[in-house]
Amino acid sequence: MTVPEVNIRKLRHEDLVKYHKLSDDEVWNVGMDVYEKMFEISPDGFYCAENKETKEVVSFCGGVDIGDKRAVIVSFITEPKLRGQGIGSKVIKKILEHYEGYEIIVNSAVGREPMYERFGMAKFLYQTNQLICRPKSLEKQAISFNIFPLENIEDIYPLDEAVTGSDRKQILKWFFETSDKSFFSKNEQGEIDGYTMVRKTPLGISLSPCYARSENALRGLIEKVISIYPNSDAQICLPIDNKDSLKILEQYFFVKISSCCFPKDAPEDLTVSLPNTWLGSKQDLKFEKSSVISILDFHFGVC
Ligand SMILES: CC(C)(COP(=O)(O)OP(=O)(O)OC[C@H]1O[C@@H](n2cnc3c(N)ncnc32)[C@H](O)[C@@H]1OP(=O)(O)O)[C@@H](O)C(=O)NCCC(=O)NCCS
Repeated sequence: MTVPEVNIRKLRHEDLVKYHKLSDDEVWNVGMDVYEKMFEISPDGFYCAENKETKEVVSFCGGVDIGDKRAVIVSFITEPKLRGQGIGSKVIKKILEHYEGYEIIVNSAVGREPMYERFGMAKFLYQTNQLICRPKSLEKQAISFNIFPLENIEDIYPLDEAVTGSDRKQILKWFFETSDKSFFSKNEQGEIDGYTMVRKTPLGISLSPCYARSENALRGLIEKVISIYPNSDAQICLPIDNKDSLKILEQYFFVKISSCCFPKDAPEDLTVSLPNTWLGSKQDLKFEKSSVISILDFHFGVC
């Protein structure tokens, strides 16, 4: 097949429908609302390749500005039949030019790391497993008396900043307002020691994000979520270092790794040993890893 000639141009709002459809075909399980929001935050950070002749858009990539001169590369995708012909590279290079001087962060699917390293994202930041968690039946709710509905997003800003090391007020506000429900936990001293937001997704729900500074906070939040969504698979994006948290999650859920995150021909028994890798172009990212149960939607968040 001959390689079509393409123009690399900024994404337009009307291109989002095809962009989202390609991502759905890969089962990335990201809602259109998330695409809309990313594009709203960084309308100049998204590029696409358009077939010069037919005007069809065939490759997409975005860079979301998350403040502090950092941008997250998101949803890099080319029409399947045109992959491997140099089109995607042209699109992502345009984004990297746009964000020159920024720290660039990317969540690399399994096997894609060398590609991103070639584009300058060579620093290892951390690894996550994208888990699909099917609730077991909840026998007793021991902890959830410590859990409260989150009504004022400002209440959790200090905890979020302590855990992530970043000021994320703007984006958290949007996540809060578009989440189905949000909860926080308090310890015996009355301090907020965990919170979770629950988003509805095509596959069920996602905890985006969920942080817990203690086992009680984690158990309470999870019990609360299961008591309200007993029949929904929950998507959880867990840093792989949090082995203890995984053990606790396995008490509440049948856990499996999301199939969108590893090659289709990978053997099933590899599951959780195949993590996504977060790569960056600059310094290491410091955050309170042990408290992160589920990162902010991985299309936006650095943790
Ligand atoms: C990754 C992707 C966007 C690259 O777009 P593309 O138009 O194929 O890009 P290019 O032809 O310029 O190749 C860029 C890199 O993609 C990878 N690639 C090439 N052909 C590929 C194919 N048929 N399938 C998967 N990846 C391929 C290679 O690593 C290549 O780097 P290299 O040429 O230095 O070896 C595209 O392959 C794709 O849509 N894959 C599925 C979605 C995906 O995995 N996205 C990345 C999520 S982290």
